[in-house]
Amino acid sequence: MTDQAPSLKEAYASRFRVGAAVNAATVHTHAHLLARHFSSVTPENEMKWERIHPAEDTYSFSAADQIVLFARDHGMFVRGHTLVWHNQTPSWVFLDSLGQPAPAKLVEARLEQHIAEVVGHYRGAALCWDVVNEAVIDQGDGWLRPSPWRQALGDDYIEMAFRLAHQADPGALLFYNDYNETKPDKRDRILRLLEHLLDRGVPVHGVGLQMHVSLDDPPIEEMEEAIERYRALGLRLHVTELDVSVYPWVHEPDRPQAPARPYDDELAERLAARYEALFALYLRHQDAIDNVTLWGVADDSTWRDDFPVKGRKDWPLLFDVHHRPKEAFWRVVRLAQN
Ligand code: GLA
Repeated sequence: MTDQAPSLKEAYASRFRVGAAVNAATVHTHAHLLARHFSSVTPENEMKWERIHPAEDTYSFSAADQIVLFARDHGMFVRGHTLVWHNQTPSWVFLDSLGQPAPAKLVEARLEQHIAEVVGHYRGAALCWDVVNEAVIDQGDGWLRPSPWRQALGDDYIEMAFRLAHQADPGALLFYNDYNETKPDKRDRILRLLEHLLDRGVPVHGVGLQMHVSLDDPPIEEMEEAIERYRALGLRLHVTELDVSVYPWVHEPDRPQAPARPYDDELAERLAARYEALFALYLRHQDAIDNVTLWGVADDSTWRDDFPVKGRKDWPLLFDVHHRPKEAFWRVVRLAQN
């Protein structure tokens, strides 16, 4: 019945783009939903360092190129994701030819080459980039995560990455992207980082709010306060990785996780109410938000099935495992029509 459903992207066209994370498989298997309902795509993994630049002299663009071509054929915006991250980055980046920690100069030269190549390759096609992903710690003392980037280059690696990305494509919008971004402690650390970058004249244009949330957490008020604080910096906002797990988000890895449960009408209703409240929040801030991207297209292909508990089925998106619109989809569409 998908074809009869109103188009999500059209319902929100005057507000913000609605995007989805895709991969080399889902641009084929979910093409019908993508073409009808989404106006933006983010490659789920295909532009990450380990995929696109697996060895020092090897760039592997073909999987990401397929996604970019799909987007071009369907008139979709492309969010580049991501240039500098502590995950999914091969260890050779930080090692010399003897397998010892590489000197800062070498790591810096590699970063410079990587950003010039990757951002250069997609210049004019990827109109924005998540330049630095998840550099801030969740809790505890300090500010920045002790990542291999920071170990090699010091705290300035963040500024360096933004300046290099700007050089490689002066027209691209450059984002800092993070999770748990509305939790007050982490929010304040992210704000401090952004203020520091802005004070130094670093070309950072937006904040990526990942928004991997669950049914009740974080509360809308907490998210709204964070949005207000981020937008007060004068930055553009993108919701970059939205999904709503039906399981409570347990932060501490050693605490027990909720057992698998069936997806029933009660759950469908709670998910719908949560999505409605989230999109109502985004609409209240539509003058600052340009893009709301879901981290996946339909419930048959979602990272949540394996994270944080391997094999626990989750239903975090707007389309079900058979690609049919869920109650949450209808609520979100109706909200825009009111
Ligand atoms: C983070 C990253 C994404 C993705 C998700 C989990 O949020 O930014 O690229 O890896 O984790 O799938």
